[in-house]
Amino acid sequence: MSLDAGMMPFGRYAHIVGWGKAIPDRVVTNDELAQIVDTSDEWIRTRTGIRQRHIAVDPNETTATLGAKAARAALDTANLPSSKVDMIICATSSPEHTFPATACIIQDLIGATNAGAFDLSAACSGFVYGLGMAKGLIASGQADNVLVIGAETLSRIVDWSDRNTCVLFGDGAGAVVVQASAVPGGILSTEMGCDGSGADVLILPAGGSKMPATLETVASGQHFVKMNGRAVFRFATRVMTDATRKVLDRAGLRVEDVDLVIPHQANERIIASSMRQLGLSEDKVFMNLQHYGNTSTASIPIALTEAIEQDRIKPHDKIVMVGFGAGLTWAGAAIEWGVPTERETSFWQTSQRTAAYNLARARSQLLRISRRLESSLVSEDGASLAERMSKRFGGRKPEEDAPPAEAEQELLEERSGEEEA
Ligand code: ACO
Repeated sequence: MSLDAGMMPFGRYAHIVGWGKAIPDRVVTNDELAQIVDTSDEWIRTRTGIRQRHIAVDPNETTATLGAKAARAALDTANLPSSKVDMIICATSSPEHTFPATACIIQDLIGATNAGAFDLSAACSGFVYGLGMAKGLIASGQADNVLVIGAETLSRIVDWSDRNTCVLFGDGAGAVVVQASAVPGGILSTEMGCDGSGADVLILPAGGSKMPATLETVASGQHFVKMNGRAVFRFATRVMTDATRKVLDRAGLRVEDVDLVIPHQANERIIASSMRQLGLSEDKVFMNLQHYGNTSTASIPIALTEAIEQDRIKPHDKIVMVGFGAGLTWAGAAIEWGVPTERETSFWQTSQRTAAYNLARARSQLLRISRRLESSLVSEDGASLAERMSKRFGGRKPEEDAPPAEAEQELLEERSGEEEA
């Protein structure tokens, strides 16, 4: 599936105007891992390029809180209040729950009261799929501001006794604000692909509806990531190259036009091999996997944020983001960078935003309390207070004719008596 530059109606272009990341504090080095599984720093470094990863050890640090932190950072750089966000897309392979979507929890945490929100499940390709969705929403006029987030706490679904997988992954989140603009450029073209015949190559087998959680599934470790590393390796090098060529083609660009590739940060050897096939030199490829490991959907937006922090991106640069993951999926995007990367935020703007987030927290608490109160006024047979009163007072519809205040009080007392009993 693809959307290319030529399909932009009404002169609406989709630009990345905000970016940010959130990384847990705790660093776990390869040497530390060598104390819990049969591996070594040397093996991990030479086979993957990874030297350390960050792990969310605080149980209060979750996929949603990391995602919300990255989202706030992205809104800050975009200088955009959360109330202006139209859609939140959270790409994740480690959602907080099967439902509700982690994106909904993030919506509440950042007070994006006018936004729709949904999770996107395309594994490590998810963030770039999210860019494709954002571009489509903007091009069709359905949204002006879309938050695309990649957020993960993979450490919670990885088997820490399986050396084939536990050395690879890390936790973190990255986010961007994609905004409608009349200025040509931004996300020029995308490629989103899938080969479901490889679904079992990288899988979390249990916990879904096919294999619901049972004592046996837990005992046999079916709730942890299972991977055929070699099969993923072969697939990855092929699709990274193909997807890059496709998005460049669709954007009318050549490999020589590319200023920077930001690939999914899974394995140094996969990146080197695919970039070699494309004829792209090392200085045109951004890599930070040595610090974070594979953070799945978060790896590309974290890398983008760091590339900007390191002055690797400037307006009019041609950038390719390309990834692969479970599914098996792949995705690419060619981007013409459209905005200055140096941002100054005034004290006043920062204070305003902090106040808005505090207000969002208070609003959320109030809504929770009022919802709790509301359900405490619902009787066991499911009838609400209003329905019971309507029955008692002769079948009137409560909204038509409200019963007297004393009667309401009487019913409330009756209800509290029932509860005490
Ligand atoms: N330490 C030491 N030895 C190890 C370790 C380890 N951590 N892991 C595996 N080995 C062993 C294997 O058991 C094997 O031993 P054997 O020959 O006795 O059987 C040996 O090392 C070589 O194994 P290979 O699989 O051939 O190693 P390879 O060079 O392919 O590297 C790796 C393995 C790093 C997993 C590589 O295949 C890879 O990166 N694949 C892609 C994985 C990936 O990117 N997954 C994420 C996808 S994105 C997403 O959707 C989440």
